[in-house]
Amino acid sequence: MNISLSNLEVRKKLAKYSNTNPDDWFLCLKARYGMATVFKAIHDRMGTGEVITCPYTCITAVNPIIVGGLKPIYCDIDPSTLSMVGASVLIKPRTRAIVVQHTLGIMNREIQRVYKAIKDRNIVLVEDCAHCLARMSLTHKLEPLADISIHSFGVEKVLQNTKFGGAIYVNPKLKDRNPKLYNDIITALLDLPEPPTSLNLKIRTYRTQNAIIQRLPGNLKGGVRSALLKAHVFEPAVSAIEQEADQGKAYTTNEFINKTILDHIDELPSNYRRREQNVDIYLKNLRHGRKFKLLVREKSALLAFPIVFENTAKATEAYQALTASGYFIRRWYSPLLYPGPTQNRYYYYEPSMAPIAEDISTRILCLPTNYSAADTRKIVKILNPVENPVQKNSKPVEKSK
Ligand SMILES: Cc1ncc(COP(=O)(O)O)c(C=O)c1O
Repeated sequence: MNISLSNLEVRKKLAKYSNTNPDDWFLCLKARYGMATVFKAIHDRMGTGEVITCPYTCITAVNPIIVGGLKPIYCDIDPSTLSMVGASVLIKPRTRAIVVQHTLGIMNREIQRVYKAIKDRNIVLVEDCAHCLARMSLTHKLEPLADISIHSFGVEKVLQNTKFGGAIYVNPKLKDRNPKLYNDIITALLDLPEPPTSLNLKIRTYRTQNAIIQRLPGNLKGGVRSALLKAHVFEPAVSAIEQEADQGKAYTTNEFINKTILDHIDELPSNYRRREQNVDIYLKNLRHGRKFKLLVREKSALLAFPIVFENTAKATEAYQALTASGYFIRRWYSPLLYPGPTQNRYYYYEPSMAPIAEDISTRILCLPTNYSAADTRKIVKILNPVENPVQKNSKPVEKSK
């Protein structure tokens, strides 16, 4: 299968799983590259300005705003969705876009409020679906709501074996509202070049290199990883320059990446089913109480299941108990703008801008949803110590005001 055919096949699959049109999907090597391409087009067409986002995210979701020539402005989060709340009050004449993220795949209904707030304004609504591949917010007509929707096949996302690839959905409705911008965005996405040979080599060897690093004794891992990075043969999930408000040149996918995606994309329905079943196990068996609180109360296919502890020490204790038993637990997003900027000022960020996000990030654990039901039950057992009584009629953590 050549590049254009494999590209079309990936887009057809994305369209099938999202009930959309393959022509409205555009592939990129990593979602961050597609995002940067979109923000640069917004900047070049609409001028300098601001993008409202939130710091409860990966740094690779904010770098594209900055390299695109725009300035990030931060909202705090709603603890029940771990994503932005109150974006409307930050809208100004210089607001160019708003990014609503569905953190861990928790579909943030705030997007409906943002959609209404910007309806007659020249502001682009961007939906970050990096944690919920092919799942998007819809209008009452069941059509995609956002102007731009971001999807990822990258490391630690929904499909575990793809590792590379991103996809941008460009809503054809944007063509009616702002035909010039629509044209700029799709032209720029279509113009992305394939990765050069040196990068292609890193992509092809990533899985083997990573598997070797993971199997090394703990004291050797860091050294080997640094040596591979120094030799420019390893592509990290987040590079050093990406902690300094920068990122590399944007590329699209190549035949190898498309083929890898095609080998795995039909696992999506069973992948989501398993995640939903495991969320159900957590919901039914984890004790919402003094030790930790559940943030989510609805059954859905989450990338991970968030719980928040009373304090950092208790979160760390549980983290150590779980990892000692061989489970891979994420502390997303701790620190904020994960894995953290070398300097907050590069990101125009100050902790006072998002006190709820700052607080939750120190106490959160994100439990895996991709293990077997038996392993998920073992995780529950580790977390539910006998001395912690079940709290009946307990309420979820308070929402932000
Ligand atoms: C919420 C979010 N958005 C976007 C990205 C960027 O995705 P990619 O790794 O495909 O560039 C990430 C990556 O971790 C993410 O967590």
